[in-house]
This record gives sequence, structure tokens and C-alpha cells, in this order.
Amino acid sequence: MKRILITGASRGIGRAIAEKLAASDVTLLLHGRDTIALAATCKSVQSRCAETVKLIHDLATDKGVANLIAQVGSDPLDVLINNAGIAVVKPFREITPDEWIQTIGVNVTAPFLLIQRFVCQMPPGSSVVNILSIAAKTGFANWSAYCMSKFALEGFSQSVREELRDHRIRVLNIYPAATNTEIWDDVSGDWPRQKMISRFQTPPEICDHVDLAIGSLSK
Ligand SMILES: NC(=O)c1ccc[n+]([C@@H]2O[C@H](COP(=O)([O-])OP(=O)(O)OC[C@H]3O[C@@H](n4cnc5c(N)ncnc54)[C@H](OP(=O)(O)O)[C@@H]3O)[C@@H](O)[C@H]2O)c1
Repeated sequence: MKRILITGASRGIGRAIAEKLAASDVTLLLHGRDTIALAATCKSVQSRCAETVKLIHDLATDKGVANLIAQVGSDPLDVLINNAGIAVVKPFREITPDEWIQTIGVNVTAPFLLIQRFVCQMPPGSSVVNILSIAAKTGFANWSAYCMSKFALEGFSQSVREELRDHRIRVLNIYPAATNTEIWDDVSGDWPRQKMISRFQTPPEICDHVDLAIGSLSK
């Protein structure tokens, strides 16, 4: 039996990953804040999973992360997928301290705390998967807070990868291009949403890499 935690599984890319990984030998621990949306994700996968567990916590706060960790418990994870993320998109002069702190909290500190807490229990052959972005490699005008957070998690996880190599725990970073999810609803500007990758096509680069992580479990 494999135990897989996906943060931000209530919608978008996280839900697509949950749908991809649902299998009879998998317990999916599915995290989100929106109880109705998370229930919809659970409903869409539960007939194909050994078990689904709903985890409803705000990852912008240390308390929310601590509560998530407590609910996941001490049984080892085989895959930890850090997917939850937010995008504050505006000129850097207009970013408020709260928006900056919120971005760091959800996109950087929560993955840091989850990785730090869970890897010590993860067996050899297990995987940490971070959903980053092309914004972890390139800066874009008006995306400074978002790029800062994705660059930060990129640097952190590159280093952690080296620390975990001898333990045979993989750290996989995934860099999706623009994908038509609700994250774009609050992004001002005229974005070609219909030309973006569709969540319903299950973005191939994401699923290939997550499959790779799962594949490593059987080796
Ligand atoms: N869409 C893109 O174009 C794109 C491209 C590259 C990378 N990405 C990355 O892919 C990941 C998923 O994005 P998406 O496009 O699927 O976005 P989305 O549809 O907006 O989903 C974001 C997910 O993160 C959760 N989340 C947001 N704030 C949270 C908080 N404070 N505490 C706990 N959970 C929180 C949401 O939970 P609730 O809805 O339940 O609150 C939701 O499940 C993100 O890390 C994003 O940066 C997206």
C-alpha cells in the first residue's frame, strides 16, 4: 500500500494529479481549504483508491501547517507532492507586506516544513515532488512575488536533493507552463486562457514526472 499526500488537491493541477495517481493500492491524502471542492476531488477518485483522507488546513499559517502534519500522522509517506500555491500578480511597487508574507507562507514555508517533517519517515525509493513553474527559472514583469517564491523553493529543493541522495529519496521539481486553472481568475490582464494547457487534458509533463516518482516506489 502506498501513501501519497497531495497539497492543493481541491482543484486545478492538484486535482488532476490526484485523478492520475488514484489506484487500488494507494491511499490518497488530499489537502485543500475549500471543503466542497475537496469533497468533489475525493468523490472523483475514491472508487479507484484504497482510501482517501480529506485534510482541510490553511497553509499560509504555521498553525495550519502544524495541524496538517498532525492529521497526516506518523505512518510514512511514499510520495509528498507540494502543489498548493498562490500567485500575487502586480507591479512590485504595489505588493503589500501581507501579500509578500502570504506568498512565502504558502509557496515556500509550507513545503519546507512538510519536507522537513515527513522525509525522516519516508522509506528509500520514496519521492518528494514540488510543483514549481517556468517562473522558477525566469523572471517575468509583474510576477516578482511569485517568481521569488518559486526560485526560493527551487534553490531549497536542489540542496535538499543532494542531502537526500544517499537516503535514496528523490526530490523531483516540475516546471509547468501556463495551465488553465482557477489560479488565473484573479490575475488581471488579457491572458489567452483557451490556448493554455487544459487541466482536463492532465498536463503531460506533470503526470510523466509524477509517474516517474510513483514508478520508483516499486524499485
Ligand atoms: N496554472 C498554472 O498556469 C501554473 C503554472 C505553473 C505552476 N503552477 C503551480 O501549480 C500549483 C497548482 O496551481 P493551480 O494552477 O492548480 O492553482 P489553483 O487552481 O488556484 O489551485 C491552487 C490550490 O492551492 C490551494 N491553496 C491556495 N492557497 C492555499 C492556502 N493558503 N492554504 C492551503 N491551500 C491553499 C488551493 O486550495 P483551496 O482552493 O481549497 O483554497 C488549491 O487547491 C501551484 O503551485 C502553482 O504555482 C500553476
